[in-house]
Amino acid sequence: MSPRPSAIRGVTITGTGMYVPERVMTNFDLAKLVDTNDEWVVERTGIRERRIAAPEQASSDLALIACQRALAMAKVDPKDVDQIILATTTPDRILPSCACTLQQKLGATRAAAYDVFAACTGFVFGMGMARGLIGAGVADTVLVVGVETLSRIVDYTDRNTCVLFGDGAGAAVFQACGPDEGLHAIDMHSDGELGEVLEVPAGISRNPASAGTVEAREHFIRMQGKKLFPFAVRSMEDSVRKCCDAAGWVPTDLDLLIPHQANLRIIEAIRERLAVSSDKVYVNIDRFGNTSSASIPIALDECVRSGRLKKGDKLGFAAFGGGATWGGSVMTWSLPAYVATESEVFAAKGAHA
Ligand code: ACO
Repeated sequence: MSPRPSAIRGVTITGTGMYVPERVMTNFDLAKLVDTNDEWVVERTGIRERRIAAPEQASSDLALIACQRALAMAKVDPKDVDQIILATTTPDRILPSCACTLQQKLGATRAAAYDVFAACTGFVFGMGMARGLIGAGVADTVLVVGVETLSRIVDYTDRNTCVLFGDGAGAAVFQACGPDEGLHAIDMHSDGELGEVLEVPAGISRNPASAGTVEAREHFIRMQGKKLFPFAVRSMEDSVRKCCDAAGWVPTDLDLLIPHQANLRIIEAIRERLAVSSDKVYVNIDRFGNTSSASIPIALDECVRSGRLKKGDKLGFAAFGGGATWGGSVMTWSLPAYVATESEVFAAKGAHA
């Protein structure tokens, strides 16, 4: 737990962006692949549909669009980015890092770029790193992006996992700010004892790829969902409480809480324990499923672009994921309510036509 020491610079978000692939996969589509049905998936998870990357799209392609949108909102030239922190479980390749591929596509020629593997908590860990780097004066502009093409490591013969996950990317630009706004507290944790509860068993040094690993379907996600559920609720509740405490707030002071979108029942359980009202907890899991490290920045960008956040709002984040990892943060939002551009208004009208 680390409240903001007074000697370091304040750090805030000055732009956000998201991108999800066009292809929608509904529960009805999945019911054609495995023994499941829309009613079970909606009731047990809250998910109705998720996005699936096109065959030619890799994680860096999704991340590129989200980052371009975030930089445009922040009015930052890619060449002025000092560091790119890319959180993912599904990089384009193991070598080079996905962040380096993104750096080249983005033209962020000055930026140091590297990947963070912290599963669904990756974006929150990235926030913590951005705060440390900017706060200490090591960097002025840090681009944090969470991106996943989980459809590439989901086993579409396993109904326990395939209904949960989707693809997407979300990004945020972090820069210095005044002492009373921006990030007030970050909470970051890991517990390797829980490593085998959620894993991809093969592919790298422990169990290199072979015909046998492919045949045994060991390159796909395996999850013991029941064990993760109570841990997810306890850990995210705890992180929100700790961060609020460090900021001198209580959870009910929050104007908006953006939790990792893993399961609607997990989100509801946290909300009830924190006694926060439903209208203050953002949910989009019905449309995107669990996009792991991309889930929080996608939700954040939706909140920003819909005008839901205004300067001075108290905002909280909470995440948990494989590893196990978990954490949270709280901040005072420092941008004025977003005014949609002409093309965004046009696109929204088109979507409702
Ligand atoms: N369709 C129909 N039935 C199903 C499906 C499905 N898709 N999946 C499981 N079932 C069945 C099970 O086989 C079981 O049947 P049985 O009683 O005959 O054995 C029954 O439904 C109940 O299964 P449970 O596993 O007990 O269902 P539960 O209510 O626990 O929900 C779920 C499962 C959704 C996975 C839940 O446990 C969960 O969300 N856990 C947290 C998982 C999570 O968030 N993981 C992401 C971590 S984030 C990251 O780092 C990537």
